[in-house]
Amino acid sequence: MLVNGKEILIEAKRQNKAIFHFNINNLEWTKYILLECNKLNISVILGVSESAVNYMGGYNTVVNLVKGLIKDLDIKINVILHLDHGKSFESCKNAIDAGFTSVMIDGSLKELEENIRITKQVVEYAHMKEVTVEAELGAMGELKDDQVSFGKLTNVSDCLEFVNKTKIDSLAASVGTVHGKYTKELNIDYNLIKDIADSIDIPLVLHGGSGLSNDILKKCVLSGITKINVNSDLQDAWSKGVRKFLEENKSVIDPRKIILSGINNLTKEIDNKININN
Ligand code: 13P
Repeated sequence: MLVNGKEILIEAKRQNKAIFHFNINNLEWTKYILLECNKLNISVILGVSESAVNYMGGYNTVVNLVKGLIKDLDIKINVILHLDHGKSFESCKNAIDAGFTSVMIDGSLKELEENIRITKQVVEYAHMKEVTVEAELGAMGELKDDQVSFGKLTNVSDCLEFVNKTKIDSLAASVGTVHGKYTKELNIDYNLIKDIADSIDIPLVLHGGSGLSNDILKKCVLSGITKINVNSDLQDAWSKGVRKFLEENKSVIDPRKIILSGINNLTKEIDNKININN
C-alpha cells in the first residue's frame, strides 16, 4: 500500500529501528526492490531524485509505475514514494500533485532564514494533501570525481529553530556523512546525532548511507537516526553484476537479460543493509 512517511517513521523511531530509503532509477529497480522488501516484510521508502524523475519520464509516470507494480505484484508492505532532494517548491508541488506520498525540500545550501521560508511553503502545501515533508540543514559532504568536500555540520540550536518554525515531519541534518561511495574513514559525529535526536521529537534522516559498514550504520541508529538513505551502494552492486555478465556473455543483446544481470547483486545489498535491524 502507498502511504505517507508519518506513522512508519515515528514507530521506527520509537523502536530504535531503521527504515531504509532506496533510490530507484527504472522499472527493474523499482520492481525488484518492492519484491525483495515484500519478501522480507519490511516497509520501504522509494527515493526518486529529480534527475531520476526526468529520466523515467516525469512525476506521473513514476507514480503510475509504482502503483501498477504494487497492484500487479500484490505487494502487501507499506511503500512510501518520496521525492529525494527536491530543489524548489515547484518540484515538490509537482510530485505531490502527481501522487508522491512524501517529499524532501532541500534548501540546505541557502541561508537559514531562506531555508525556513521555502520549507514552510512546502510543508503548508504538502500537509493539506497529507504528504509528509523531510528537509535538510547543514551541507552534506559530496564525493565527485574521487574528490571529497566534507560539507558543514549542523548544530542543535539551528535544528530546534528549523523544526519549530517549519513543522517538518523528518529532518536530514548534516552529521559527517558524504553522498557517494566514500569508503575511507569518516568523522561521523555520533554525539551530535544524539544531541539533535534528544532535542527534537521528529525522526532524523541519515543521507549518504553508502560506503558505511553495518556497524557504523547501527551506531548511527542507536545514536538517534531513523531513516537511512542508500543509493550508491546499490548502483555499485548492480553495475558490478552487469559488467561481469557482459564480459562473460559477449553475444547477449537482449536488454532485459543485461539489466537483470545486476539485480541479484542489488537485492543481496538490500538484504545486507536491512540486517542492521536484527
Ligand atoms: P549515497 O549515494 O551515499 O548512498 O547517498 C544516498 C542519499 O543520501 C540520497 O539522498
